[in-house]
Amino acid sequence: MARVFFMLDEIQKAGSDFDSALASANEVKALADLRVRYFGRKGGLIPALFGQLKDVPKEQKKEVGDALNKLRDRIESALKEKSDRATADESARKTSRDTIDVTLPARMPHLGNLHPITLVRQEMEKIFREMGYSVDPGPEIETDWYNFESLNFTPDHPARDTQDTFFVDVPGMLLRTHTSNVQIRSMEQTKPPLKVISCGRVYRRDEITMRRSPMFHQAEAILVDKGIHIGHMRATLEYFVRKIFGGDPKFRLRPSFFPFTEPSAELDMSCLFCNGNGCGTCSQTGWMEILGCGMVHPQVLRNVAIDPEEWSGFAFGMGIDRVAMLTYDIPNIRTLFENDLRVLQQF
Ligand code: PHE
Repeated sequence: MARVFFMLDEIQKAGSDFDSALASANEVKALADLRVRYFGRKGGLIPALFGQLKDVPKEQKKEVGDALNKLRDRIESALKEKSDRATADESARKTSRDTIDVTLPARMPHLGNLHPITLVRQEMEKIFREMGYSVDPGPEIETDWYNFESLNFTPDHPARDTQDTFFVDVPGMLLRTHTSNVQIRSMEQTKPPLKVISCGRVYRRDEITMRRSPMFHQAEAILVDKGIHIGHMRATLEYFVRKIFGGDPKFRLRPSFFPFTEPSAELDMSCLFCNGNGCGTCSQTGWMEILGCGMVHPQVLRNVAIDPEEWSGFAFGMGIDRVAMLTYDIPNIRTLFENDLRVLQQF
């Protein structure tokens, strides 16, 4: 009899222990542990209690057995209910973490951007294309003939000096010192009338400074037709420079010298920064040197079998790096060639 009461006590205690354990088990994992504690094959409390049933006197077996069955069913359904809820909660939390909010604006892939030199070059080419010029970058490795000789540089001209020119291992070959090589190549390729713009890299043996670099960029244009005079050149250049820089600057042509043009000139523009009043950028002169130009020399035309009595033309060459520096307010030319992403991403 004592044994029976003892068992019933134990069953009751197991029930109330379970209630408080269940109250503090909220996670799926804690509930699974609780199930093992009560139903585990080895050492589970419920199987252990059922094991003790065989020692209960026969006449009490039913009462104790009923109590035990009731406890088992109650624990089982309470555990099931709470774990189902916890599982559902957890998966709902996980889904809301993983779900894609289709209303969010898309994160665009970073496509990179164009280098300031490329932007200026494209703009220059566009302006000339609109005026009917064709685009030809020409070769960077060039012969002495195209870079110098055909352009009227005498054999002892200082520009040929090793101080200025990079020669390559092949005799007679060099890195072009200007884009004027394209003048000759275009006139050889196309019979006049012709209009060509050429933008590309050029090389000179210079120290690297704020404004100079041994590799830089030039834009070159040449036009050959009948009856072309310096007025056509001036009108074309002023139109072009206004388009590139904007605003309404004043211009002047200053006599200069290039072996391949006659007459030769440099085009100055009133300073963009002080409107011609004088400032640091224009060294207080009020003017900025923009480009070199001139009428194609009759001997240059003869060198490519064009009759200077019948045809005439103009050409000009301009630094692209300088334009990029003025346009984007970059004081040091090195900035253009260091490929620092913090700089390049701004364009
Ligand atoms: N090639 C010259 C330079 O590099 C510029 C130029 C081009 C001048 C065409 C006249 C005509 O300075």
